[in-house]
Amino acid sequence: MRLDKFLSETGTATRSESKKAARSGGVTLNGIAVRDLSVHMDPQTDRVTYMGSPVIYQKNIYIMMNKPDGVISATDDGNETTVLDLLPEKYKKMEIFPCGRLDKNTLGLLILTNNGALAHRLLSPKCHVEKTYRFECERPLTEADVELLCKGVDIGEKSSTQPAKVLLTSSRSGEISVTEGKFHQIKRMFQAVCNKITYLERIRFADIPLDTALARGEWRELTEEEREILEKH
Ligand code: URA
Repeated sequence: MRLDKFLSETGTATRSESKKAARSGGVTLNGIAVRDLSVHMDPQTDRVTYMGSPVIYQKNIYIMMNKPDGVISATDDGNETTVLDLLPEKYKKMEIFPCGRLDKNTLGLLILTNNGALAHRLLSPKCHVEKTYRFECERPLTEADVELLCKGVDIGEKSSTQPAKVLLTSSRSGEISVTEGKFHQIKRMFQAVCNKITYLERIRFADIPLDTALARGEWRELTEEEREILEKH
C-alpha cells in the first residue's frame, strides 16, 4: 500500500496534510524520514510515525445503513434497540460506532465506522460536510420561510444556522441540505419558522447518496469509491 494511502486510511491525515508533514520530515518509515509518500509499504510489518507519534494499523470499516424508525443511533442501550443491534456481532468487536446521530424517528443514511479520527473530522463544524434530508412538514412553507431557512435562523444557539439549501417538491415537502449537525437541527430550524417536521429521512452524507437498494434496517460496507470520498475529508 502507498504510504499516503496508509496515512489517510488510518485516519491519521488527509493526503495534503501528510504531504506537508512529509516535506518537514514529519513522516518516518522504519525510522527514516520519507519525503515522497508514493513509496509502497507493508501496513502489517512496517513502522510508521507521523509528527513523532507511531501510527497503528487497524483495518477501518465503513458501513452504510438505511436506518429504520424506532432505532437509536447509539452503540449500546439497556432498553432500546440500537443501530449496532442490527449488525452482525463481529462488527461490535471491531468497535464500530455511528458517525453522528439521527433521531429515533429519523430514517435513512447513517454511516458507521471504527475510524475515530475520520469520524471526528467529518463531524467537525470546520469540515462543513453537507447532509441532505428529505422532509415533510405540517404547514405549507412560504417563500419567506424558505428564504429564512436558506439564510440562517435562530435555533437558540450562539449564532444563527449556517446557510442551507432548500428544494421544494410541494408546499409541505422537499429536500434540505445543511453543513452543520446540531442536536435536532432540522426540526429546530422548522420550529424557528413556526412549522413542524412530520417526516425526516437523510438521503445524502458527504456526497454519498443513500443506496436505494437497501431496505430500511439493511446495511452494506462502503465501496472503495465511497471510502475514498470519506477519506478525502
Ligand atoms: N435534524 C434533526 O432534527 N434530526 C435528525 O435526526 C437529523 C437532523
